[in-house]
Amino acid sequence: MADKLIIFDTTLRDGEQSPGASMTKDEKLRIARQLERLKVDVIEAGFAASSNGDFEAVQSIAKTIKDSIVCSLSRANDRDISQAALALKSAQQGRIHTFIATSALHMEKKLRMTPEQVLEQAKLSVRFAKNLVADVEFSPEDGYRSDEDFLCRVIEAVIAEGATTINVPDTVGYAVPELYGQFIKNLRQRVPNSDKAIWSVHCHNDLGMAVANSLAGVMIGGARQVECTINGLGERAGNCSLEEIVMAVKTRKDYYGLEIGIDAKHIVATSKMVSQTTGFVVQPNKAVVGANAFAHASGIHQDGVLKARDTYEIMRAEDVGWSANKIVLGKLSGRNAFKQRLQDLGVQLESETDINTAFSKFKELADRKSDIFDEDILALVSDDSVTQGQEQFSFVSLSQRSETGEKPFASIVFKVQGQEVKSESEGNGPVDASLKAIESFVKSGAEMVLYSVNAISGSTESQGEVTVRLQNSGRVVNGVGSDPDIVVASSKAYLSALNKLQSKSDRVAAQG
Ligand code: KIV
Ligand code: ZN
Repeated sequence: MADKLIIFDTTLRDGEQSPGASMTKDEKLRIARQLERLKVDVIEAGFAASSNGDFEAVQSIAKTIKDSIVCSLSRANDRDISQAALALKSAQQGRIHTFIATSALHMEKKLRMTPEQVLEQAKLSVRFAKNLVADVEFSPEDGYRSDEDFLCRVIEAVIAEGATTINVPDTVGYAVPELYGQFIKNLRQRVPNSDKAIWSVHCHNDLGMAVANSLAGVMIGGARQVECTINGLGERAGNCSLEEIVMAVKTRKDYYGLEIGIDAKHIVATSKMVSQTTGFVVQPNKAVVGANAFAHASGIHQDGVLKARDTYEIMRAEDVGWSANKIVLGKLSGRNAFKQRLQDLGVQLESETDINTAFSKFKELADRKSDIFDEDILALVSDDSVTQGQEQFSFVSLSQRSETGEKPFASIVFKVQGQEVKSESEGNGPVDASLKAIESFVKSGAEMVLYSVNAISGSTESQGEVTVRLQNSGRVVNGVGSDPDIVVASSKAYLSALNKLQSKSDRVAAQG
């Protein structure tokens, strides 16, 4: 039987470390459910000790998810590990992932510890974790830039303490495929007890080689777990992208010869959910999940594909879930049809009240837009007002005026802790006027570092999906809003970002 390649998804932990990608507990839970549907083997749900919010998110994911292993990151100390174990208490299958840096640079400059102290700390931490859970993963942070002899000593020691997975991160994305693959191979050959653990790769994409490096770690090095994120989300240039790894291994099974448990037809829905939740738009030419990934524009290609699909297609769009882009519902659709569609899309709303709110939003949208696509429904349920009625700021209504030669003007009504307020402003354009009207009331002082508009489903009848990224006192958050009127979508996105600025608590960074 072919070996299995374990897919370890870290969208909710390493992906979330991307500035602005922070998610609420409910958003994380929704994504975790979708990852379970996708049949991800391990979900790294967060870093429980980093903040109360992360602790609660890991805890609720651990309570809910049954089919995937739920994992929490923790630094190599007793407090972090205890917090991780506590958050994972109700997990059907829980894993603690503990890490400590092992490169000379990190040990000396960041940890200010000697190699012997790091070795001792790594051993003690795995021993401590092993007393709390059976499934313990260890990562030597900046492993790829670590001294090979030292790394062998650390890995041998932590396996002897009971670590069941050894993950070798290329934390800074410095590796190249052949060297990284060879590095993993050397470690596996040199560590005497290497066969007692599963080896894992964790690559960052700073040189655009995270997927290639991970595959080399698998093929040359013999790793059997890949750590990755949906859409390659992650700090700086991101992490290894799940959809690319999965489809490479599935499409080239002739070469890789590995089994993979992922149900690929949920890939596109998962990608859209992550993108709509975080506001990180997927580039159109992104492999597998980009809008153009299966679009043949040239006449020669179109002609070829019509005659025989495999002339230019190596994968089928529907196998990764692209057929989902069809008209699903309209003005006459009832609540049951809507509920069924939510279920088909993997969206589970917490309560009947949430379903009712979403359904009345759907009806409002259907009055304004004849064709409702799956993307519209996903955008609708990502809307703060559907799932998080307790938010500080929420949109009510807007009117704006813009005429050639006149200064654009907007008047907006929104709620602040349940109380309606009205604010007006002029601006360079209607969007600018609307956001200035909100800001002149709220006075957040936040700096806008990104504003982007994306058409959810192609045509001008489509809903606009707006991302607003705000920065304030070192915190960066993304707000997302959607509506057929992009001025309204922009205002919702701005209010959503303000909500996140209010609620996001300070947290410890994993690589801090
Ligand atoms: O990139 C990295 O080194 C990490 C570790 C914490 C596993 O994300
Ligand atoms: Zn990482």
